[in-house]
Amino acid sequence: MKKKILITGGAGFIGSHVVRLFVNNYPNYEIVNLDKLTYAGNLANLADVEDKPNYRFIKGDIVDAAFIQELFETEQFDGVIHLAAESHVDRSIANPTEFVFTNVIGTVNLLNAAKHIWKDNREGKRFYHISTDEVYGSLGKEGFFTEETGYDPHSPYSASKASSDHFVRAYNDTFGLPTVISNCSNNYGSFQFPEKLIPLFINNIRNNKALPVYGKGENVRDWLWVVDHARAIDVIFHKGELGETYNIGGFNEWTNIDLIKVICKKMDKKLGREAGTSEKLITYVKDRAGHDLRYAIDATKIKNELGWEPSLQFEEGIEKTIDWYLANEEWMNNVTSGDYLKYYEAQYQER
Ligand SMILES: NC(=O)c1ccc[n+]([C@@H]2O[C@H](COP(=O)([O-])OP(=O)(O)OC[C@H]3O[C@@H](n4cnc5c(N)ncnc54)[C@H](O)[C@@H]3O)[C@@H](O)[C@H]2O)c1
Repeated sequence: MKKKILITGGAGFIGSHVVRLFVNNYPNYEIVNLDKLTYAGNLANLADVEDKPNYRFIKGDIVDAAFIQELFETEQFDGVIHLAAESHVDRSIANPTEFVFTNVIGTVNLLNAAKHIWKDNREGKRFYHISTDEVYGSLGKEGFFTEETGYDPHSPYSASKASSDHFVRAYNDTFGLPTVISNCSNNYGSFQFPEKLIPLFINNIRNNKALPVYGKGENVRDWLWVVDHARAIDVIFHKGELGETYNIGGFNEWTNIDLIKVICKKMDKKLGREAGTSEKLITYVKDRAGHDLRYAIDATKIKNELGWEPSLQFEEGIEKTIDWYLANEEWMNNVTSGDYLKYYEAQYQER
């Protein structure tokens, strides 16, 4: 069936994997990628699909309500997969307000525009909001987040995502907007901006730079390969029940320090360095304010109801990820030097 789907934040880490999957798997769909191209947006992430006939990029800001309203009226989207967000916790501590604009107001602008264009016919329409497990707060040593866990966000990032989740549910409850939400654990894989832990550490090890570990490195995260998150988004977009929430996770918990040591060991081998060389780069730094101790997702609902499970074990996923960053040195250098910002001009404005 033909459909026109808006994917917001498609030039970011997870969004680029979602755009790639939809463009390649659904030639009948017209995929429109809307992205502001903040520091985190990089169109080079999509170089392999940018010339496909069912793909289009639009540069724009979801905070601009008039622009969003007009875009929806002109394009008449059948579905929205909303990933655009300010996503980095450390940046949210430095500048919380930016997170309110993009994550809360931006989401409400999209909800308003979808509500407006679908007011007479909601058949086959769907607004899918992508969220995070961080909205649930912090776990002790035991237990898992389920879809019933109460919200208890601690950082400005998770507070802004929690707020946007509440608005999505409110639009479903109040206006009958056909919505669905998923909350996913930490993602890893190719095309992640190297201020996040895994690409940052791979790059620092490659360049013999210090590996700054918050506190004692005891925080626990549940890691999922980004391609498996994109597969889950595909399944939920097509089969998820409207009004429902699905938790997505890898059943794959690591303390930060253990994860870093695994990366160090693998990198020593791959770079032909003596065992133990990279671990010497570890330096412990003052813990992040409000740092949640442990996140862990119970992904039973999506497994039982929609048949999704991770396709890769962590061992294989982290191996692939390290290999990708080592093989794509130019991508990494462009991002760390800021040269990727020129990609948009070179690709789009001179045409
Ligand atoms: N990275 C993770 O581990 C993780 C886990 C669970 C959920 N999420 C959620 O998934 C989504 C994507 O995360 P990510 O890691 O790919 O983020 P990212 O920071 O890599 O990408 C975000 C994208 O949104 C765009 N954007 C930012 N502000 C915008 C605005 N005002 N208008 C239009 N576009 C804008 C950026 O340019 C960028 O391309 C986010 O909603 C995030 O909360 C991320």
